[in-house]
Amino acid sequence: MIKIRKLLILLWAVTSLQAQSPMKPIYLDNSQPVEKRVEDALSRMTLEEKVAMCHAQSKFSSHGVPRLGIPEIWMSDGPHGVREEIEWDSWGAAKWTNDSCTAFPALTCLAATFNPDLAHAYGVAIGEEARYRRKDILLGPGVNIYRTPLNGRNFEYMGEDPYLAARLSVPYIKGVQQSGVAACVKHFALNNQEMWRGHINVELSDRALYEIYLPAFKAAVEEGGVWSIMGSYNKFRGQHCCHNDLLLNKILKGEWNFDGVVVTDWGGAHNTQEAALNGLDIEMGSYTNGLSSMSVFTYEDYYLAKPFLKLLKSGEVPVSVLDDKVRRILRMTFRTSMMGERPYGSFVNETHSLAARRVAEEGIVLLKNDKQFLPVQAGKYKKIAVIGENATRSMTEGGGSSTLKVKYEVSPLEGLQQVYGAANVVYSKGYSTGPSVYGRVIAPKENQQKLFDEAVKTAREAEIVFFVGGLNKNHEQDCEAGDRTSYNLPFGQDDLIREILKVNKNLVVVLVSGNAVAMPWLKEVPAVMQAWYLGSESGNALAGVISGTVNPSGKLPFTFGQKLTDYGAHAFDKLSYPGDSINQYYKEDILVGYRWFDTKKVKPLFPFGYGLSYTTFEYGKISADKKVYAATDVVKVSFTLKNTGTMDGAEAVQIYASQPKASVIRPAKELKAFKKIFLKAGETQTVNLDIKVSDLAYFNDKTHQWTVEPGDFVLSNAASAGDVKSAVKIQVMP
Ligand code: GLC
Repeated sequence: MIKIRKLLILLWAVTSLQAQSPMKPIYLDNSQPVEKRVEDALSRMTLEEKVAMCHAQSKFSSHGVPRLGIPEIWMSDGPHGVREEIEWDSWGAAKWTNDSCTAFPALTCLAATFNPDLAHAYGVAIGEEARYRRKDILLGPGVNIYRTPLNGRNFEYMGEDPYLAARLSVPYIKGVQQSGVAACVKHFALNNQEMWRGHINVELSDRALYEIYLPAFKAAVEEGGVWSIMGSYNKFRGQHCCHNDLLLNKILKGEWNFDGVVVTDWGGAHNTQEAALNGLDIEMGSYTNGLSSMSVFTYEDYYLAKPFLKLLKSGEVPVSVLDDKVRRILRMTFRTSMMGERPYGSFVNETHSLAARRVAEEGIVLLKNDKQFLPVQAGKYKKIAVIGENATRSMTEGGGSSTLKVKYEVSPLEGLQQVYGAANVVYSKGYSTGPSVYGRVIAPKENQQKLFDEAVKTAREAEIVFFVGGLNKNHEQDCEAGDRTSYNLPFGQDDLIREILKVNKNLVVVLVSGNAVAMPWLKEVPAVMQAWYLGSESGNALAGVISGTVNPSGKLPFTFGQKLTDYGAHAFDKLSYPGDSINQYYKEDILVGYRWFDTKKVKPLFPFGYGLSYTTFEYGKISADKKVYAATDVVKVSFTLKNTGTMDGAEAVQIYASQPKASVIRPAKELKAFKKIFLKAGETQTVNLDIKVSDLAYFNDKTHQWTVEPGDFVLSNAASAGDVKSAVKIQVMP
């Protein structure tokens, strides 16, 4: 009897609840299409609620609509890991105790892997960490082109070639976004130096813009489906990029049909009228420098806050302009925080550490290895010297907004001690550089001569020396808000390397950096390795490569010139770099990186795409499936690759295209395909790669069209831009 009574009560409760509860509004119904949810939410919002969504409410968040249950949008740096929590209204750390992350290698290292699969794994891992930290936008990847080796932020980007940057940023973005977190490709566009970054006006040709500086962003939008993009601080053709009509309205939202959100860089907005009308959607960090300076204005004083509301109420700006912004923001919200079945993410786990380690191991570039000096087997030496501050200095902190608070970071010294036995390793710092502080160089306290002399003594008494130097994340090194002031290795390292060589020829130089440097000692040093900022797994990856448990396969994503003036950006006058503090002219035009070195026949120290292995590879002659192609065809090239050594390894093969008799200037050759081939010792594979004829086009700035000029083209297979193996001529019909 009681059971029946209970059942009847339950039945009554359920039916009365159903009778009361109204239909779920469309915008809250995950089963509804996003666009329907967008329109429904928009229709319910007031003018003030819409305007609020278009600007910050705190250092790293923008308004939601509390009344409707639409969440705030939380953003976080950066491209290499999820930054620690920042205070609501300062640049200071919130000092949480649960936000120490996994540090992934810098994006130059990812680029050096030439491995899109790894780029995807990287994006998945960092996206899971951003999701777990409840972030809706991850402020990365950075894809600005490496135009000058002095740019303080090159370490955050993917090198000098737009095709390489595009092929690696697309899978990274897809990986991030599969966790329901928006990637935010940056800095759009032409932020290729830090000097005067807040206002320098960049002038360049349409060809250079479309052929060099836009392709990675275009791929991020059209292939990566990126949900947000960050405007850059600088100006382009007289307008700030954060509200630049040509870049944002005409190219990004017009030609590329971008349906996501344009966010300013922090402090990148400067004008309400332009911010309203020129394609900006969310204004962040106004009246600050994006790193340390604090605003004296409230968030309601932002350009897209009260001043914008005033223009809307007066009718000077139509509400349709506001609605377009809010539609984009709502669309991103329904793709992230309000998506159905949003993943939960995860934070600092073995999978993420493995991803970080794989990128680090595959990104390290072996530049020189005379007489197979490397690898050095564990147990071979009992007296090993490790010298250099970069063997122990944390490289996950500093560098600007990409700075990280990490759960762990294995230093190069620790990694080498683990492999060779701590008892067999003696460390000397050799030089010291002081703490990493934004915008300032702090003199180190230690006695440099004493460090120098101790290091030489340690080297003299050792059987082998690992010098771990390079740059660091200090101001005027690899750091935001400043450029390097010299192309040389800083902190007296060249002298120290020379002195070490005098007492011990068995010297391996390991450069930890995100930029090229001069190497006056190169001829005397038997082995040189370019090790990037490798993240939490630095020491494990580096020691793995040095000891031979990992066969290096990284290749340079940018050219190492002999000297600074070998670079196109530095082959002209100051107006080319850094500009006259107001304007800057990219005088090398489309000839950036190897495009300059090859076309102008300037011999580099190490070419783009260069990297050695502990094994050797033999390339077969390249062939194409046809002789003559139409503009809509795909060229199928093929060649064999053999691992002719005794160690399993991987080789990033490259295909370059050239058009010897073009009617316009074209670079000597351009990268149009690459693939990382893994081969066991003695194994041969046939490599098949497709190149769309349309990818052989140049940007015709007279017709504003990509144009494939009929005629002969040459396709080459190569181990680097400086090591072409063979070529095949094809013809494109009119
Ligand atoms: C910084 C950087 C940008 C970063 C943003 C937030 O100034 O330029 O890359 O994401 O501000 O820290």
